[in-house]
Amino acid sequence: MKKWTTAGMIAVLGLALAACGGNEAGGSGGDKLSIATDASYAPMESMDKDKIVGFDVDFLDAVMKEAGLTYELTNTGWDPLFADLEKGGQSAYDAAISAISISDDRKQTYDFSLPYFESVNMILTKQGAGVKDALELKDRKVAVQGATTAEELMKGIMGDGNTALKRFASNAEALLELEKGGVDAVVADFAVVQAYVQNNPEQKFDAIYDKTNFAPEYYGIMFPKGSELKEKVDAAVEKVRASDEYKEMYKKWIGVEPDTTDLIR
Ligand code: ARG
Repeated sequence: MKKWTTAGMIAVLGLALAACGGNEAGGSGGDKLSIATDASYAPMESMDKDKIVGFDVDFLDAVMKEAGLTYELTNTGWDPLFADLEKGGQSAYDAAISAISISDDRKQTYDFSLPYFESVNMILTKQGAGVKDALELKDRKVAVQGATTAEELMKGIMGDGNTALKRFASNAEALLELEKGGVDAVVADFAVVQAYVQNNPEQKFDAIYDKTNFAPEYYGIMFPKGSELKEKVDAAVEKVRASDEYKEMYKKWIGVEPDTTDLIR
């Protein structure tokens, strides 16, 4: 299901007329919402054979049930997800969930649900690399997923245009670069870094917190600007994030009890 803004509707009608064809507003999938994700960010979202799994998947499911909505989640990748939702009323997807940090910059182009998860960026290095905080990465080689808050933070520290900061289309590729020895560190969200260290004990990685240089971030479900879905989804997010079910899924995917004090202010 796609809720069309008047502007989007007019634009689509225009397109349909111009193409003399049918752009099915509402889609053939009945009332199902189309939701996008970049499923290469375990434990938040990743592929398990042909299924998308992770905290965000369980959280989305609980929210959709609470809101009485049906949906289909698709692995679109990171950059395509932003490019699509930027089209507003003409976007192919109704929303995205992908460990997306709510930021003032993104809020100019997209709408966000209430925050549902507190995160912070973290440094991943090989053991013995001698990195103690983010400032020490200034003269090192660092890999990040492009267009993430990690890229923004590291640009701030290493300087915009610094070629020692390598950007990849997915975080999985950034991790591969570290494994290959092409960089000294990867910066990504804490849950992802911690899970990676745990899942690769033989590789001897370190996960380093730097709460001085990396501020807390809050994930939101992202909508095309002006989406009429936000109100309904927000009400459901508010319920689910305060539920025992939330605590259970957090323990399942993150491994510890959630601290939601700052989330539910
Ligand atoms: N939280 C960070 C951001 O919003 C990184 C999220 C990356 N998510 C993903 N599924 N690759 O920029």
